[in-house]
Amino acid sequence: MQRKALLVGNSDGIGLAATKRLLAAGWDVIGVSKSLSPIIHKNYQHRVADVSESEYPELLTGLLQEGPLALCVYFVGIGELLDPQDMSVEAKIIDVNLTGMVRTAAAVIPRMVQRGQGHFIGISSLADELLSAEAPAYNASKSGFSNYLGGLALALKPKGVYVTNVRFGFVDTKMAKSDVKPFMMSVERAVDHLQACMKKKPARYTAPKIMIPLVKILKLMTKLRGK
Ligand SMILES: NC(=O)c1ccc[n+]([C@@H]2O[C@H](COP(=O)([O-])OP(=O)(O)OC[C@H]3O[C@@H](n4cnc5c(N)ncnc54)[C@H](OP(=O)(O)O)[C@@H]3O)[C@@H](O)[C@H]2O)c1
Repeated sequence: MQRKALLVGNSDGIGLAATKRLLAAGWDVIGVSKSLSPIIHKNYQHRVADVSESEYPELLTGLLQEGPLALCVYFVGIGELLDPQDMSVEAKIIDVNLTGMVRTAAAVIPRMVQRGQGHFIGISSLADELLSAEAPAYNASKSGFSNYLGGLALALKPKGVYVTNVRFGFVDTKMAKSDVKPFMMSVERAVDHLQACMKKKPARYTAPKIMIPLVKILKLMTKLRGK
């Protein structure tokens, strides 16, 4: 049977590179993203949608009628610097990054559970364990994201459905806005890591590993700053 994947947030960045890789490997891919996709391929169909709009769950329900999914990956992510004088975008960041993923999981996972198989991957960040004065909504969204997927992984493994929370450091896309980007990896390297996750289906996967001690130091520095 043809393997089918739903990729959400795949018109650019890591999601776009992953789409190309899956199509080259013979997958059927459905993409949902805020923008049009540059990909034209016989095994690819694309829908333009914003995951924070009320019609999004309905769109997913329609797409899921088209046959069972072996894989769903949630790539969507946005981030803005905090402007304490205009915080109007803060809730949107959490809605798009976290609630959008939960909406996607709620549409996709019950069908996987019914079939006793499937893999849901969410793209989080090493920022999930850091407080940020610059972008608190982004870090909070990733913190909730990682925590939620960790819980889902525990709940669903006995039912034959795998959940993987991928925590990336810097990846070379338009999202990497920071002035300093230590150990930044290419999108192709990020997709290599995703493919490793598709094979091994771990509950949690962090890359690059060299960022782990760096994050620990940053965490300690933030703690001292807050005292
Ligand atoms: N790049 C990094 O350094 C880095 C590090 C750690 C984790 N991550 C995470 O990796 C994931 C992918 O990021 P990326 O670097 O590939 O970023 P990206 O190039 O900006 O890609 C994000 C994708 O999500 C789409 N999107 C944004 N808002 C959406 C919405 N409301 N509804 C539907 N689609 C939407 C974007 O469409 P448009 O292009 O039209 O906006 C784009 O296709 C994100 O969750 C990010 O937090 C990235």
